Amino acid sequence: MDLTVDGTLPSALNGAYVRNGPNPQHMPVGGHHWFDGDGMLHTVRIKKGKASYSNAYVQTSRYKQEKNARRPLSLKLGGMVGGLGVIHYIVYKLRERWGLFKTKDGTGPGNTALAFHNKQLLALVETDLPYIVRVNDNSHTETLERQTYGGNLAPRFTAHPKIDPATGTLYGFGYNLSKPELHYFAISSGGMVKEDFKVTLQQPTMQHDFAMTEDYVIFLDFPLVSNPENMKRGLPMLMFDRERSSRIGVLRKDTSSELGIRWFKLPAMYAYHVANAWQERGNNGWIRIRIFLCVYDDSFSIQSTTSSTLARMSEITIELERDECSVRSLADELRCEFPVVPDRLVGRRTRYTYAVAFEKEAGHLGQAAGLVKFDLGSPDKSVAAMLRFGSGRTGEDDGYLVLFMYNERTNSSDFVVYDARTFSNKPVAVVSLPQRVPYGFHGKHINAAQFQSQFPFDIHFLPDI
Ligand SMILES: [Fe+2]
Repeated sequence: MDLTVDGTLPSALNGAYVRNGPNPQHMPVGGHHWFDGDGMLHTVRIKKGKASYSNAYVQTSRYKQEKNARRPLSLKLGGMVGGLGVIHYIVYKLRERWGLFKTKDGTGPGNTALAFHNKQLLALVETDLPYIVRVNDNSHTETLERQTYGGNLAPRFTAHPKIDPATGTLYGFGYNLSKPELHYFAISSGGMVKEDFKVTLQQPTMQHDFAMTEDYVIFLDFPLVSNPENMKRGLPMLMFDRERSSRIGVLRKDTSSELGIRWFKLPAMYAYHVANAWQERGNNGWIRIRIFLCVYDDSFSIQSTTSSTLARMSEITIELERDECSVRSLADELRCEFPVVPDRLVGRRTRYTYAVAFEKEAGHLGQAAGLVKFDLGSPDKSVAAMLRFGSGRTGEDDGYLVLFMYNERTNSSDFVVYDARTFSNKPVAVVSLPQRVPYGFHGKHINAAQFQSQFPFDIHFLPDI
């Protein structure tokens, strides 16, 4: 169904915008955390200035088993708290042993983010392998299969892999909350596993994102530590330990073992998301790595969704030859999350990054104030521009910022397009959606060529793109 468009949808947006997020299919029992819901994809198909919308669950093994059982069966993060958490864990293990919940085809909800690699749109969550999904011409998104890479990869895959724009190689990692290690992998542009080896950690930590430059990958070993013993003391299994240091691990991309990794220490802090990173050479030829990311300070809590504890855009600088590492905040007064740069500049120097901005007094993470454009090249004026939502609707940044916007007063949602260069708060286009789109996690725009490449044997709508 063609939706009402206020303004003009640019032809550059032909393709589809898909956003992932957690939607529990059953009422949670035994505790809920916002990471626990089943992955639901909200898709806007854009073609010739017209738009259609639909939503669909990612058809994971977990989703299908719990749908058949008509109740939750899997282990949820929200249930892993206190003494009841121990009981939930035991019950889950018994279900698994008795075949009441099957784990061989994955246990993840596919609810976090999307990536496009090797002509495949992938729904991602860090506790499982990717699920291949495909957007059809009517905006319906179907789940094709779980991407196992021929069985050559451990079953954990970051929701934020980095795809090198020069080679098309996908770099990623998986972590295991029950072991002090992660596994690093590289997958060729054609989908072959090129590297997959273990990196040793000091303790099991949750690592949501990492960074990539032209020659390096950088792991963020921040002290969000997994410890089942916490539950015996009535606490969550996963807790931030502000007494521990943060560690930044730098590894060459072309290596085949963890032997060359170098670790740098910083004070305790946390970051979910990296905006971008790159390497540069100083006048003396020495390599400097710069990582821009949204940093939470030592008051970070994984349970909190209030904006007063939100992150600041920050830079971690690593002087490799001098063995030095430092962190600085770019804009103390501003809170932000979900930073992005264009896919073609991931791991390369970017002047700008865009993020969702929050006022300090916002009630929760869903109540964003607007969008912020950071100038990463400016030493003293990092906030290049800020656009605020709703106030009257009156080269690198040649593009658009697209998002779903939910109005809590009218209980309705729009798909909104802003110009990345002018950063005017008057949208280029607003598409009225037929239903509410709940708050979620990450989205991905696939262009017309990527859209078509999902259908290698079906040219039914080639002329229409
Ligand atoms: Fe994320």
